[in-house]
Amino acid sequence: SGAGKSMKHESADKHVSGEAIYIDDRLEFPNQLHLAPRISDVAHAEILRIDVEPCYTIPGVVRVITAADVPGELDIAPLTHGDPLLAKDRIEYYGQVILVVAATTQEAARQAAAAAVIEYRELDAVLSVKQALAEQFFVEEPHQHKRGDACAALAAAENRLQGELEIGGQEHFYLETQIASVMPGEDGAMLVYSSTQHPTEVQKLVASVLDLPMHKVVVDMRRMGGGFGGKETQAAGTACLAALAAHLTGRPVKMRLSRQDDMTITGKRHPFYVTYDVGYNAQGQICGIEINLAGNCGYSLDLSGSIIDRAMFHADNAYYLGDATITGYRCKTHTASNTAYRGFGGPQGMVAIEHIIDHIARELGLDPLWVRKINYYGTEDRNITHYYQTVEQNLLHEMTASLEESADYAARREAVKAFNRHSPYLKKGLALTPVKFGISFTASFLNQAGALVLVYTDGSIQLNHGGTEMGQGLNTKVAQVVAEVFQVPLSTIQITATDTGKVPNTSPTAASSGADLNGKAAQNAAEIIKGRLIEMLMRLHDASAAEVSFSNGQVRVKEQYFSFQQVVQQAWLNQVPLSSTGFYKTPKIFYDRSKAAGHPFYYFSYGAACSEVLIDTLTGEYRLLRADILHDVGDSLNPAIDIGQVEGGFVQGMGWLTTEELVWNGKGRLETSGPASYKIPAIADVPQDLRVKLVENRKNPEDTVFHSKAVGEPPFMLGISVWSAIKDAIASVADYRIHPQLDAPATPERVLRGVTLLQEAL
Ligand code: MTE
Ligand code: MOS
Repeated sequence: SGAGKSMKHESADKHVSGEAIYIDDRLEFPNQLHLAPRISDVAHAEILRIDVEPCYTIPGVVRVITAADVPGELDIAPLTHGDPLLAKDRIEYYGQVILVVAATTQEAARQAAAAAVIEYRELDAVLSVKQALAEQFFVEEPHQHKRGDACAALAAAENRLQGELEIGGQEHFYLETQIASVMPGEDGAMLVYSSTQHPTEVQKLVASVLDLPMHKVVVDMRRMGGGFGGKETQAAGTACLAALAAHLTGRPVKMRLSRQDDMTITGKRHPFYVTYDVGYNAQGQICGIEINLAGNCGYSLDLSGSIIDRAMFHADNAYYLGDATITGYRCKTHTASNTAYRGFGGPQGMVAIEHIIDHIARELGLDPLWVRKINYYGTEDRNITHYYQTVEQNLLHEMTASLEESADYAARREAVKAFNRHSPYLKKGLALTPVKFGISFTASFLNQAGALVLVYTDGSIQLNHGGTEMGQGLNTKVAQVVAEVFQVPLSTIQITATDTGKVPNTSPTAASSGADLNGKAAQNAAEIIKGRLIEMLMRLHDASAAEVSFSNGQVRVKEQYFSFQQVVQQAWLNQVPLSSTGFYKTPKIFYDRSKAAGHPFYYFSYGAACSEVLIDTLTGEYRLLRADILHDVGDSLNPAIDIGQVEGGFVQGMGWLTTEELVWNGKGRLETSGPASYKIPAIADVPQDLRVKLVENRKNPEDTVFHSKAVGEPPFMLGISVWSAIKDAIASVADYRIHPQLDAPATPERVLRGVTLLQEAL
């Protein structure tokens, strides 16, 4: 019933049968209107004229809404400013929403939105991160992490090399596109159903757009059809537009973006341009390094400050870098505003350093795994990061050794080489890469959570917490925690929608911290109630605390047994309150930005993956043959759910680095705006031989909820092993002596080019 068991996802059956209700499945309100956007078809321009008259010729149109109709604040930026809900005067990217049309049908709304006449004066656009970097066109000033004198270390190094790497972005491709449904109520109140990872921010922004106090707005969020970071800030636009239309018309309004609009309007994972200069000894051990990480933030800040920071915090991945200077640039381009995506910039930093390690290995003719291991954080003087947090409880040495053995790395390395010697066109590649990922929001104040637990007189329990369910199994885990505290079956606990009217002022469900934070807050609430029950039983039965115990649905008091329900009944009759809020904040974390030093992460999660690929050097096509994964989740709250997260994260990470390619035309239009041209991994891309194991008997040494560790994002970076294995296969063409320059994603076209370049270099 409680923590640590492989319970199935609370909605698993409903997900499969199709009975799980997403916002678009809800029964519709009478008189509901549908909302459709009109987006810009230029990247940078001044708006000269908007003529909405033609929209009204379409039957069913009720109201056309532009920036001028916003009664409150037009800007919905999460932190500072720069994200107008509707464009006013100026266009900053292809896909920016200029107006919305409310109509009785979605079809009418779409037709009418297309009918508006918009005149622009086009301006020069900055479309590439390289151009933005060259022009120092930033959404925020650069930031730097610095330890020692990298410049001197590089000058003195035995070996030194430089390189560059382009890393592509990634579309979230949640199955459920951005959606909100809004019911206007009395005195301006708004009930907002929003598919969001951040209900409190939607509440705050709807209130600010409509010039209402937050207490007038309730946001209800039962489940998302995937978020992956894409609904952390960018669900707000859809919700605010629907609320604005509801406010202006007095009618319920639903807005659901088409796939193409969603992909064109909303931001993605940040593409990066990376340059590096690294010094190392004959064994491949790094003594000094300079890495420049230039993130393409798109047109506005959004969360880019923290995202580029996290790339910088993870530019070491698992390695001690010696004297290091890591610089993060927040480049502005006239494209959609890039946003959170699983790993939150961390993956880009980690890809950079893994690329550098591969590069060093090829220069020295060493197995990249050897170079990885010799650079791992060690003990004593080699365990401090470039931002001065000590790496404690590093599991990577033992995990790597264990995975090397279970995946049979050494023998397969030889087998791969033997295969390649005799196979002229098909080549195999193998790579084992580590993951070390910092857990906590780096904006320290966000590490807080609240919960509300309600026990009813029949012994059933309603559980509310500030986290949101996006498929990751958070609600199941938090319910397990409460079941564990009360020692009741999971079935007695009703999971409810996240509701800003029940738990206020919440943080987004992000940074993998959903269970860590909300699990602890719910545990706190449940323990408060349990404490009251124990106190009552001690009083009524003249018992000591040691004589009262909860286990297996029973409450024992001295020699007597009661059911949980009997105890609850008794509490009610004795006027003992049966509900409680709970709260949690993460201890130990701090970061001083001015010194670029601190302890930004409560702890690290670890993982390692070994991937074997087969590439066709005539076409560039490839297949992942086998993947072995060992991942650390501390003392798992739910191993079945955690393994699901590891598998899903790995495949999503692999997709980012292999087939998922975003292509914009010279005018800043996203050409890959649907599944026909943007290829996410499908079932056939999952390797036939996928072996996933969780590290056993390793509790989180920190006081996390039942000593578990966060799992949501870290496995994403296991996908780097596939990319590295593809490079390994390409390198075989030049007898592993030349480092293939392979940008990410490694599409078949790039693989073919990588092969060709090596063949030409021979
Ligand atoms: N898993 C599913 N099925 N769907 C999602 O949208 N989002 C990921 C991860 N796993 C996601 C997911 C991201 S980006 C994060 S930050 C975490 O889940 C958030 O949930 P958690 O903090 O409860 O792990
Ligand atoms: Mo996850 S990118 O932190 O929503």
